[in-house]
Amino acid sequence: MSLKSSGDRKINYMRISVTDRCNFRCNYCLPDEGVEWKPRDEIMSYEKIIKVAAAAVEDGIKYFRLTGGEPLVRLGIEKLIDRLDNLSGCEEISLTTNGYLLAEKAETLSDSGLERVNISLDTLDPDKFRDITGIDGLNQVFEGIKAAKSAGLDPVKLNVVALKDINTDEIESFAEFARDESLNLRFIEYMPFYDTEQCDFGGNGDDLFYPLSKIYNRIEQEFDLIPDQDIKGRGPAKNYQFSSGGGSLGFISPISGDICKKCNRLRLTADGYIRPCLASEIEFDLFEEGELISRKKIKKILSDAASNKNLENGFKGSNLKKRNMSQIGG
Ligand code: GTP
Ligand code: 5AD
Ligand code: SF4
Repeated sequence: MSLKSSGDRKINYMRISVTDRCNFRCNYCLPDEGVEWKPRDEIMSYEKIIKVAAAAVEDGIKYFRLTGGEPLVRLGIEKLIDRLDNLSGCEEISLTTNGYLLAEKAETLSDSGLERVNISLDTLDPDKFRDITGIDGLNQVFEGIKAAKSAGLDPVKLNVVALKDINTDEIESFAEFARDESLNLRFIEYMPFYDTEQCDFGGNGDDLFYPLSKIYNRIEQEFDLIPDQDIKGRGPAKNYQFSSGGGSLGFISPISGDICKKCNRLRLTADGYIRPCLASEIEFDLFEEGELISRKKIKKILSDAASNKNLENGFKGSNLKKRNMSQIGG
């Protein structure tokens, strides 16, 4: 069986958030004082995640991406990777991380069956890094990038959220970094999940939004880019190679683009909901009276969720307040 969505999109990718906790406090994502973490007994055990994943592979999910919060703060994630890897029908496991714990974990993650990793990095400047994340950790992330490469995780991608007037002075430096370090660096448009009036930057989401067409135009002035379809990936990025040198650039435009039309994914939240779309607060609860529902009911929910995905860009006029990005996992 396969999961069908409107527009005949085939749903073959599941993002599994393993925790809502994070060791960073990125100020466009979380308030300084943090958010209240879910009590541990409300977070899905690995056992239960595997039950959901096993039902999902039977219905055509082939690719799993682990997210958070920060997935590497959850203990024993290697065990989960190993068990997912052993599910018949699972073809690829990847992970999205802030990179801080990668230097110590990359090798064991790779040994457990993790194929590749996407690392969030919004600045190349150590002071700005501290201002954005609340952590003095840029070098640690650079070490994480190195460790990921030497552990054979391939490709290693970097995710840069374009934050107007915060990191948009670094666009050309990011492009150089991607080329010189042979990385696939993707720019992502800022999405309005969180009431940024509460954060240091002030203003609202619109003040942070910077369309990727502007980034593309700026980069094109200095670098020769060639469209590239061969970058391994299951997501919405449009990729380009540099005509000379290694590395590549990707553009993820959830606001100005129409990535929803090709969207292939469902999300499992850390507290046990299936969320069809980032841009919609509709969620399906996998628990009844505190117990995970039966495999048959899980499958029904996966199918309902697949047919509930937005076809049109759901961010237009949205007012998403229920969860911020760290509670969904991107
Ligand atoms: P690959 O292409 O397989 O490497 O993965 P990916 O790009 O799907 O994964 P990643 O976690 O690196 O996603 C990068 C960012 O793209 C996410 O954090 C979101 O900001 C954005 N994104 C990913 N999937 C979606 C989606 O379904 N809808 C929207 N609006 N944005 C998405
Ligand atoms: N808009 C776009 N991307 C965001 N991320 C976190 N919050 C937002 C937002 N509001 C990114 C992180 C990471 C990925 C999982 O989501 O920086 O790259
Ligand atoms: Fe930063 Fe990602 Fe953690 Fe949010 S979830 S605070 S964006 S590292």
